[in-house]
Amino acid sequence: MEVLIAANAEEAARFAAKAVIDGLRTRVTGDPVLGVATGSTPLGLYAELARAVGRGDADFGKTTAFALDEYVGLEGTHEQSYRQTLVTELCNVIGLPESRLHTPDGHGDSEERIRAQAAAYDAAIVDARIDVQILGIGTNGHIGFNEPGSSLRSRTRIKRLSAQTRMDNARFFDGLDAVPTHSVTQGLGTILDSRRMVLVATGSRKAAAIAAAVEGPLSAACPASVLQLHPDAVVVLDEAAAAGLRNRAYYDDSAAGLQFGI
Ligand code: PGA
Repeated sequence: MEVLIAANAEEAARFAAKAVIDGLRTRVTGDPVLGVATGSTPLGLYAELARAVGRGDADFGKTTAFALDEYVGLEGTHEQSYRQTLVTELCNVIGLPESRLHTPDGHGDSEERIRAQAAAYDAAIVDARIDVQILGIGTNGHIGFNEPGSSLRSRTRIKRLSAQTRMDNARFFDGLDAVPTHSVTQGLGTILDSRRMVLVATGSRKAAAIAAAVEGPLSAACPASVLQLHPDAVVVLDEAAAAGLRNRAYYDDSAAGLQFGI
């Protein structure tokens, strides 16, 4: 695991954008495949990717994207669906064609239908193989909507949202009652299949979750701790999100080594 600690959120976005672009470049055959996340944190990263496109350092016109998750019960055209959010905040920003954006389908007339859609989505990810998976982290340590207690080998499925997550996301809806209770989310096993993971966290609200994910035991109690199992996990933080890390000096030494190409 590489832990990169930036001076502030803007620098963190730049570090993360480099990790994403470098990771996509390593694909040998076929078009690159990017795993994408919603939430407030990746917005700075998406803005940096757009700058890279502007400079001619990146081009997402032939990139395929798979979203981490979607709410159950919202159609893909709903304003707060993650599909619409990603069209607005990702596709339109970095020039990734909407036709290349895949999102789980959380809408259907029966639970059985939604389960089948989730299984098909997982199979499509296995088939495509994600080169770089972008991740945020919840204050409770979730990645995607894999809430604490999620199986470390889970696949894409329906998952109940925790009370904490619904409260954290109520700001996007007309109050807590309007927040869906369930999601379809890539599982932790699905996420682990990606070739590189880039997790970004900023702000002091994430410090405890980051300390548990990076330095705590591998545990379903902190789903993000599965990063410890991945051979190419990059964790990009600002100072506030890094505040709970005990092994800080080592991360800084390692990052300095990377800068000098060692
Ligand atoms: P945030 O969400 O970036 O809006 O804090 C992160 C998450 O819940 O995964």
